[in-house]
Amino acid sequence: MASPLDGIRFIHAAIMVEAAHLDELAAAARTEQQVMEFHERLRFYENLLTIHTNGEEHHVFPLLEGKLPRSVQTYLFDHREEEEIIRRLERLATPRGGKGPSQPDLAEAARDLRTHLSLHVRKENELIVPLLGELLSIPDQRTLAGALMGEVPKEMYPALLPWLLQRLTEEERVGYLQMVRAGVPPQVFASMAPLVRSSLPADELAPLIAAIPELRG
Ligand SMILES: [Fe+2]
Ligand SMILES: [Fe+2]
Repeated sequence: MASPLDGIRFIHAAIMVEAAHLDELAAAARTEQQVMEFHERLRFYENLLTIHTNGEEHHVFPLLEGKLPRSVQTYLFDHREEEEIIRRLERLATPRGGKGPSQPDLAEAARDLRTHLSLHVRKENELIVPLLGELLSIPDQRTLAGALMGEVPKEMYPALLPWLLQRLTEEERVGYLQMVRAGVPPQVFASMAPLVRSSLPADELAPLIAAIPELRG
């Protein structure tokens, strides 16, 4: 059964899947139209990464600093580097008045973001998440997971859940939804079920419904 802290691992998994998609899209972008499509997708991702890093900086890092002073500097350093790469990507993906895409710079920046995130996310998964597990009781882990979810603007929920589910493996989807089910009142989980059902094709939904019958319509 997933712990409340696994929410961080699930969002990290989706972040890495999307970083790989963006890397591939940027490498293949040859026309203005393709760069515009890349840019559209980058905007949602940027927004989500900002919410994610803000959540860590507002809730996870202060908690760790309180218990282990100076333990989060390296992660903050990574976050500033991440912002720098995203600013570069944003600049390169912005239309240049018919001059065509800035290849190969765009592809290089997307690759840099993927490489950077892969190391950062691995460090957080392998060092920060287990540390939080040691330092926090299960109720405190739930409070933290709630605070991290609280960073997501309400209007983003309908787009975020499909985005997340579509990027997770079947096993991760089941783990994520079981974790949510354990953390919210039954009526709240029931109200999410229609959005879960509309997020995935029928063949991918079937195993989720088999594992979590509350998702059935
Ligand atoms: Fe982070
Ligand atoms: Fe993270």
